[in-house]
Amino acid sequence: MGTARPAEVTRTARPARITVPWVRARKVSDHADPLVMVTAYDAPGARIADDAGVDMILVGDSLAMVVLGYEDTLSVTVEDMAHHVAAVARAKPSALVVGDLPWMSYHVSTEETVRNAAQLVRAGAQCVKLEGGRKRLAMIEALVDAEIPVMGHLGLTPQSMHAMGGFRVQAKESEAALALVADAKALAHAGCFAIVLEGVPDEVARMVTDAVDVPTIGIGAGPHCDGQVLVYHDLLGLEDRTPAKFVRRYADLKAASVAAMSDFVVDVRSRAFPDHTESYHLNAEQAEALSLYGAAPVD
Ligand code: KIV
Repeated sequence: MGTARPAEVTRTARPARITVPWVRARKVSDHADPLVMVTAYDAPGARIADDAGVDMILVGDSLAMVVLGYEDTLSVTVEDMAHHVAAVARAKPSALVVGDLPWMSYHVSTEETVRNAAQLVRAGAQCVKLEGGRKRLAMIEALVDAEIPVMGHLGLTPQSMHAMGGFRVQAKESEAALALVADAKALAHAGCFAIVLEGVPDEVARMVTDAVDVPTIGIGAGPHCDGQVLVYHDLLGLEDRTPAKFVRRYADLKAASVAAMSDFVVDVRSRAFPDHTESYHLNAEQAEALSLYGAAPVD
């Protein structure tokens, strides 16, 4: 898989299977290409992402909102996440598979955190992602001790939506920006191999990116990160919700899908589908035999 990557954007040599150490080493300041991550939640989505040449597939807890129909990300469980990680892993992508730890799976104790993360790894994730800054250090260290690589996630952390008062851009004030930089340094020091920066001003994302020696991956964090991530359904226009400012839509698959299915509806109702070539047929001998019983199919 992964053969469709256009040669003109391929500067950094990619291994046949992307690994955590390979991602860990991809700082743009060290002349690496920006990292590309997208979310995917099932095998066909993973194949599309992999054939497009992404570096990482995040089985995000955005699953809750874009696939399972919840209003926020708080309702998904470790079991839900493991189910979808396994579906992505069955596609055997060459991209790194990142499993998102859902809310309350890494908040209670280090033991529970490691056990829950192990469930995602056993389902096929090569690493896990969790949200939050310095207050998550004990959990991150426990995971790293258990040989489970961790991607951090700072800024607008959707699992904190109630504490933040909604989905709001974070670190807009200098004090909060400095706290974010301190969080990022602490996460990198604790062993995170990369950090997602979501919903922060681009100047702040640049400060964080310059301050840590692990790659930052932005979403709504401007162009100065070491990589970018978008949600599958946003990128492909599979939703008709108004997208956030930071989303660039590369296709309008919702409209294309509705149009295609409307054609199917019309064809069935007008009996234009299925036609002769889309049907199975008896051979002449069997048709003749049936006709002897007065049951010959009328063509
Ligand atoms: O769950 C998710 O899709 C994410 C991305 C927005 C980074 O965490």
